[in-house]
Amino acid sequence: MRVSIVGGGYVGLVTGACFSELGHQVTIVEIDPEKIRAINAGSPPIYEEGLEGILKKNAGQNLNAEAGYTSVAEADIVFICVGTPPKPDGSVDLSYIESASSSIGKALQNSEGYCVVVVKSTVPPDTTGTIVRHAVLHASGRTEREIGFAMNPEFLREGRAVADFMKPDRIVIGSSDPRAGHQVERVYDALHAPVIHTKTSAAEMIKYASNAFLATKVSFSNEMGNICKMMGIDVYEVMKGVGLDHRIGPLFLNAGTGFGGSCFPKDVSALVSLAEARGLKPELLQAVLAVNEAQPSRMIEILEKRAGPLDGKQVAVLGLAFKDNTDDIRDSRAIPVIQKLLKIGARISAYDPLAIPQMKKVFPEISYHSTAADALRGADACIVMTEWPEFSRLDREFDLMAHRIIIEGRKILTCKGVEGICW
Ligand code: UDX
Repeated sequence: MRVSIVGGGYVGLVTGACFSELGHQVTIVEIDPEKIRAINAGSPPIYEEGLEGILKKNAGQNLNAEAGYTSVAEADIVFICVGTPPKPDGSVDLSYIESASSSIGKALQNSEGYCVVVVKSTVPPDTTGTIVRHAVLHASGRTEREIGFAMNPEFLREGRAVADFMKPDRIVIGSSDPRAGHQVERVYDALHAPVIHTKTSAAEMIKYASNAFLATKVSFSNEMGNICKMMGIDVYEVMKGVGLDHRIGPLFLNAGTGFGGSCFPKDVSALVSLAEARGLKPELLQAVLAVNEAQPSRMIEILEKRAGPLDGKQVAVLGLAFKDNTDDIRDSRAIPVIQKLLKIGARISAYDPLAIPQMKKVFPEISYHSTAADALRGADACIVMTEWPEFSRLDREFDLMAHRIIIEGRKILTCKGVEGICW
């Protein structure tokens, strides 16, 4: 099929590359000339396991990137993969969705065949059926007999996005009518996964509800961890026993310093603001966010209990990325922890295998080191914020500290004398 992807960011690039690998003719519509150049040269502008191989194989063949919308006029299916950033009040900024929809509509003005416009970006329920539909139909001057609409959420984890795309747990297709839904299903023909067809608004909500549920599992585990720690019980033993119940499942039960990243905090906040705008008080979701906000403060409390007042002391922060295997620091729990430490007057020596360049933009004033040992040298205390596998091998490096006080926010260290946030 001829597939156009509007937006060559994280989701658009992985989606486009994977569709080209499945044999479709894919064009990525992107405004950033640097990204266009990189994609066409077969070198991914982001790191994602398996992506480079796919790009090298397909770029210039059945995968191309360009600035204009000309490919849209010929497409069987157009995916909208632009950003939906949060506004300061937690609601969703849909301006990129609106402008992409209008541009797609203009491009479809003179085309002839049937085309389906699919929203892949995470958007509030009804966005596809109202804003996107109106903008495309208005700008194109065409009818719903000629253009179908669908919402097909992505469930890609950073670091595992290619594998998640190729082996999905399910494919959710919300569509305006069966013809549109069938056209979207065809583009996934080569994959073996259960397909569920819904209304567009239900598909939009499935994405929010999935992320909110996973975030709830994490906050639940953190709350259990906080209670278990007070009672001298190992929360990891507890959640192992809990997760073996097939109704619960073993994943996303790791207690620690909380969830970060580009999706969970943003999507749960968006769901809260959607509910509040309708006069509801989403108490469970608010609690999920509140537990997550409180965990970084717990790290500092435990640190102060062990190291005394932190004013003027050197604290080594190991791990800056929101999780391991990425340089992404969006909503990383290391950010509020560093903010609090700076406010107290601590000096920070930080290390992360990948995320230092990103974190330098947020905190240019702290000192960064190229190894964990360098960050630990002379430190009065250390906190571990990311579950990087290489941290599991640290031991003698901690002897370089002035005082061997180690608090971990992710259960990753294997050496002796470590205190965990929840264990
Ligand atoms: C997530 C969803 O998993 C994905 O389906 C969606 O499309 C985008 O958001 P991602 O942001 O890549 O993916 O991260 P994920 O691996 O899900 O982890 C999110 C956060 O939760 C991380 O900060 C992680 O450290 C934390 N987490 C995860 C825990 O604290 N405990 C757990 O048990 C699992």
